[in-house]
Amino acid sequence: MNLTLHERSEKLLKQRIKQLNPRDPFNFVFMGDSRGDGPNDNCFTMSGEFELVLKKAVELNPLFIIHGGDTVYTGKKEYLEHFVKVVEKIASNIPMFVCVGNHDELYLDESNLENFRATIGKVHWVIDIPVFNFRCIALNNVISPKNKIYGFTDRELNYLEQQLEDAPRNTVVAMHAQPNIGRWSNLEGFPVTTPQSQEFFDLIQEHRVKKVLVSHVHAYDEQFIRKNRNGSFMFGRGTDFVLSGGAGAPLDFEQPLILNNYNFTEFFVSRYNILGPLLWKDFGRPRRNCL
Ligand SMILES: [Fe+2]
Repeated sequence: MNLTLHERSEKLLKQRIKQLNPRDPFNFVFMGDSRGDGPNDNCFTMSGEFELVLKKAVELNPLFIIHGGDTVYTGKKEYLEHFVKVVEKIASNIPMFVCVGNHDELYLDESNLENFRATIGKVHWVIDIPVFNFRCIALNNVISPKNKIYGFTDRELNYLEQQLEDAPRNTVVAMHAQPNIGRWSNLEGFPVTTPQSQEFFDLIQEHRVKKVLVSHVHAYDEQFIRKNRNGSFMFGRGTDFVLSGGAGAPLDFEQPLILNNYNFTEFFVSRYNILGPLLWKDFGRPRRNCL
């Protein structure tokens, strides 16, 4: 029987957790957007940069890697299968958990997750490590892959509320698209003014989520965002939103962010806190443009 990437990763994580010493912090990696450029460079799978990014991440021996989505250009089964194969080869001992991105689905009006589920696996996963008071909750905030509609359905919010109910001190939320706000206002994320988005911010603030990890934009940036009671937003304080979408996809240069280059991030989790992001960049030149 062929395991999905998620099933394989859960098994690996179980084994690796046993080796942890609760007195020593553990590290994990967050990266996103490894896809090629599709018809533009005839690469429907991953860019050659991804191999270098992933190799560097594996060198850090993280407890696990979170991929924020857009693994491949379009969610055909054969492309997703190829992604899984490459990951299992390069990161053979490291679990990888993937949030679904718009490019991981077929280019259709409606959400279509069959191929993702058959290859990468679970869409709504949770990583729970009680000795470190750690929980990571993955969300799907892609509503229409073709129409580029991002946000939260009521069902998604109910799910999030459930998962946050007894949220431990070190709770993290990971999802694909970023909020349209601050420096990210014009970057095709999700609108922050809808009732659902407002509820999303209320939930993460109420439950003191420590980090929100997003991808989708092919660059690196970080914004602290706080929603006020009247629905307006404030920057520089509040929840730490970390954007890392530099795992090889064609870089986004239009908007100057902290780093418009290939990147991934590393975090350190103790029982009391989460330190990071530590930003990793400069991975050399790929031998092949396409994987
Ligand atoms: Fe995306």
